[in-house]
Amino acid sequence: MEIIRTPLEMTAWANRVLATGQTIALVPTMGFFHEGHLRLMRKATENADHAVVSLFVNPIQFGANEDLGRYPRNFSRDCQLAQAEGVDVLFAPEVEDMYPAEAATRVIVSGLTDGLCGESRPGHFNGVTTVVAKLFHIVKPHCAVFGRKDFQQLAVIERMVADLNWDVKIVRHPIVRETDGLAMSSRNTYLSASERHAALCLFRAIGHARRRVRAGLVEATVLHREVEELLRREAVIIEYVSFVDQSTLRPQAVLQKSTVLAMAIKVGTTRLIDNDILFEEH
Ligand code: PAF
Repeated sequence: MEIIRTPLEMTAWANRVLATGQTIALVPTMGFFHEGHLRLMRKATENADHAVVSLFVNPIQFGANEDLGRYPRNFSRDCQLAQAEGVDVLFAPEVEDMYPAEAATRVIVSGLTDGLCGESRPGHFNGVTTVVAKLFHIVKPHCAVFGRKDFQQLAVIERMVADLNWDVKIVRHPIVRETDGLAMSSRNTYLSASERHAALCLFRAIGHARRRVRAGLVEATVLHREVEELLRREAVIIEYVSFVDQSTLRPQAVLQKSTVLAMAIKVGTTRLIDNDILFEEH
């Protein structure tokens, strides 16, 4: 596996690959890999001749009071894990090379970024779309693989790609969970044992919602109340519980095929998100 440190070298590599008619799949990440990332990498190797993983803790998607300073990092372990997955290139640029002092451009998707996580993290998605747009230009992938845990991020990126007529296929990867149901996240490392236990209320809420939908419940307000009651049994702070359409992210009063149950909570100082397409077979 090659480790590439600068955007210029990365694009030169991509141009060489493209000149031979071969394809590139990109997995954008912020590192500190867990099994969820490794599955995205496997998907990338299946989808193209070459897999590139970007590892960049993107400062502009963190708010002033967020966890940029303590975001977990382990570069040498990440290199070993990516190499073992058959990744061709790990692209790990420096902040100064991605955002030179004179940089003045942001990529902004409006509307879809206002609600859900956008409400408590103003500017977050502008940071995401800006860095993903830059990564697409630098790496020139045919396809890019994203996990569905960040389902609003996925919807926003799909919108950006469609709106900008970008010839990149966005591949959605299902949520990867620990054996007890907690959705995998680099931020899970922040949790103490008791917080980790409390965090399982998210998965319990999904199980409950699925059972209620299977039994024929269609009123979102009823399920909303039940899910909040269930989450409140643990020492967590609810940021939002929403039932929204999976593409438009508009709230839905009637539960239906396109409905996603999306939740964000705070456990101690750690913010966790989870979601589920309630009618989807597992
Ligand atoms: O999902 C993430 O890890 C990040 O938001 C991404 C897509 C790598 C952009 O920095």
